[in-house]
Amino acid sequence: MIDASASTFVIWFTGISGAGKSTMALIVEERLREQGLLVHNLDGDALRHGLNRDLGFGDADRAENIRRVGELARLFNNVGMIVLVAAISPFRAGRDAARELAGPGRFVEVHVDTPLEVAEERDVKGLYRKARSGQLLDFTGIDSPYEAPSNPEVRIDSSFATPEDGADEVFRVLRAMGLVSA
Ligand code: ADX
Repeated sequence: MIDASASTFVIWFTGISGAGKSTMALIVEERLREQGLLVHNLDGDALRHGLNRDLGFGDADRAENIRRVGELARLFNNVGMIVLVAAISPFRAGRDAARELAGPGRFVEVHVDTPLEVAEERDVKGLYRKARSGQLLDFTGIDSPYEAPSNPEVRIDSSFATPEDGADEVFRVLRAMGLVSA
């Protein structure tokens, strides 16, 4: 039997809101597709409008959100697709569980790291302002924790690096791990 998951893997972008996870994931997705690879992008924000719309932002709901995304990633891997995930995924345990599901050597954790002050200053969606004024509760970095990865495959300081630089670094690591050839 052909094992459709043999050459698949998961690239998991984690970081606080506004760090640039989705932008970087889109660039990496496009470059993988240019190589003729089958790719699917799972964006936390988008999934929260459909599959995960029953979930909120308390600790338990975030854990469930990430559990579902990890399971989805595995399903897509099983049908032969490389999966990119962009989600805050604030808890180490949830990311580690997703890593287990992907299998050894098949999980690339990318910490899109930006200081809170920088993300808050940008405030692209206006959510930090709402969180600071008490209109939005349980906001990551304000009144909800973010557990930074201790040993990610890739760490990018997105307050210095451009999304393209970040994508370059992701590809350098993918090649080093033997996951892509070019
Ligand atoms: S996660 O913590 O469960 O991984 P996820 O990545 O799915 O979060 O969703 C984060 C997105 O939801 C943010 O980019 C932001 O647009 C929106 N959002 C709404 N409320 C919150 C909140 N309280 N904390 C963080 N993000 C929020």
